[in-house]
Amino acid sequence: MLQYLEESSSSTAMEAIPLSMSEVENIIVDSVTDDTILALLQKEIQLKLEIEAVQSEVLLLEKTLNLNQEDERDLAEFEAPKWCVPIKANVMTFDWDKLAKNVQFDVIVTDPPWQLATNAPTRGVAIAYQQLPDVCIEDIPFHKLQTNGFLFIWVINNKYAKAFELMEKWGYTYVDDITWVKQTVNRRMAKGHGYYLQHAKETCLVARKGNDPINFRRSVGSDVIFSERRGQSQKPEELYEMIEELVPNGKYLEIFGRKNNLRDYWVTIGNEL
Ligand SMILES: C[S@@+](CC[C@H](N)C(=O)[O-])C[C@H]1O[C@@H](n2cnc3c(N)ncnc32)[C@H](O)[C@@H]1O
Repeated sequence: MLQYLEESSSSTAMEAIPLSMSEVENIIVDSVTDDTILALLQKEIQLKLEIEAVQSEVLLLEKTLNLNQEDERDLAEFEAPKWCVPIKANVMTFDWDKLAKNVQFDVIVTDPPWQLATNAPTRGVAIAYQQLPDVCIEDIPFHKLQTNGFLFIWVINNKYAKAFELMEKWGYTYVDDITWVKQTVNRRMAKGHGYYLQHAKETCLVARKGNDPINFRRSVGSDVIFSERRGQSQKPEELYEMIEELVPNGKYLEIFGRKNNLRDYWVTIGNEL
């Protein structure tokens, strides 16, 4: 602090010692009494915040532009697998009872459009699909679609507790979880943004209703998937491969699937199909 005061009286305070944000905040809280220095430091904080906000906006624009271009390319090349069963529907109005009456599923995968926490946790990344409040997700009668089977539910970090609560409400017991470690093309960890920590993984909880399905093969899959990061919210193909090994020839359903999730012998429900 002494060093700071001496140097700040010669040239400008900003040029004399570049301080990190936490150092600046500590100085303000602990010891600065001089009004001018305090004002300058506050100005520095404000400017840094404004720079961060502008950088976020630029990032957002760049990402939106790239996503749109990727979407157009993907759609042009898209061809649905021959034996997939896509159902384009709004989960809020879909006739779940009718589906449940016709088929009971061994495995359900779901990647709900959870509402993100506040404070811009995506740090400038636009969410390109409709999000749903927890009560709407809770209303989906997963339990009616399975007598004996597994639910694989992707969670985001502010929804772990909610997901456990919902699984219990739907009549499921938590049995395991899967970590997807995202990699770059060079097999390095693909770090993204997070509010507290940088995020390089996603989590899928595994729950069971009733008994293990008849064709279930114990312990064939791993609880860690290492694979390349994909488009926004796009989950790894390895999960489906693992499920098909775990429960061969099963009846498989995905709720909130997109075109990229369509797969032979899977029923996929979503509003973007
Ligand atoms: C998190 S994304 C799923 C991403 C997917 N797992 C993948 O690998 O690409 C959630 C999806 O749910 C869809 N969705 C949101 N609200 C919906 C609703 N009311 N009915 C059906 N689908 C909905 C979104 O449009 C989005 O496609």
